[in-house]
Amino acid sequence: MKQLAPSILSADFNCLGRQLKQLEELNISHLHIDVMDGMFVPSISFGMPVIASLRKSSKMFFDVHLMVQEPIRYIQQFCDAGADGLTVHAEACEDLKATVEKIRELGAKAAVSICPSTPVDAIRSILPIVDMVLVMCVEPGFGGQKLIPHTLQKVDELAEWRQENGLSYTIEVDGGVNKENVQDIASHAVDIIVAGTAVFSGDIVDNVKDLQERIGMEGENAS
Ligand code: DX5
Ligand code: ZN
Repeated sequence: MKQLAPSILSADFNCLGRQLKQLEELNISHLHIDVMDGMFVPSISFGMPVIASLRKSSKMFFDVHLMVQEPIRYIQQFCDAGADGLTVHAEACEDLKATVEKIRELGAKAAVSICPSTPVDAIRSILPIVDMVLVMCVEPGFGGQKLIPHTLQKVDELAEWRQENGLSYTIEVDGGVNKENVQDIASHAVDIIVAGTAVFSGDIVDNVKDLQERIGMEGENAS
């Protein structure tokens, strides 16, 4: 079953706790948390203290997307803060294998992400040991951008490779998802669809229900 993972980058930080409650009531199980360091990407978002604080009142899977140069330096701290999964960028790691191994050693799910211009070939050798691949559909760094269509071909390529090689990583897409394109995105072999602006701009409940319906998750929030 495909999952919708709201990205809190577009949330209202003045009432973040309440917005997370709303998401939980809609049976959202994955929360996408964007950490930006001002080096790998131009912007700075937030870090461990915010995650640790949210952890106290949420049981959702914390899918932490590290847009951070040499994230190996912080793996332990993000795990301690309550991350369930850590995504690192192939482009940001000197030793990608050691970084992924460190995440796994600490008991978190390990994911690797590729920017729009990075080919699947750049990460093929690491695929047997990752839990997830995050395909960026926009340049990382900001919410509210337009999806770059050719990035979805990498989803197909990753799904084909997964099947041919008997691998089991999940595939996540991130950036530029909206009500108009989400159905097309969901027609690809994607498992998790991240959406920031499309969830948090306007009425969260209406937005989530609408996106879930278009993704084909309409039975998900029946309880
Ligand atoms: C961008 C972040 C995304 C961002 C998506 O660098 O990784 O997770 O929040 O925002 P939207 O859905 O608005 O494109
Ligand atoms: Zn992200």
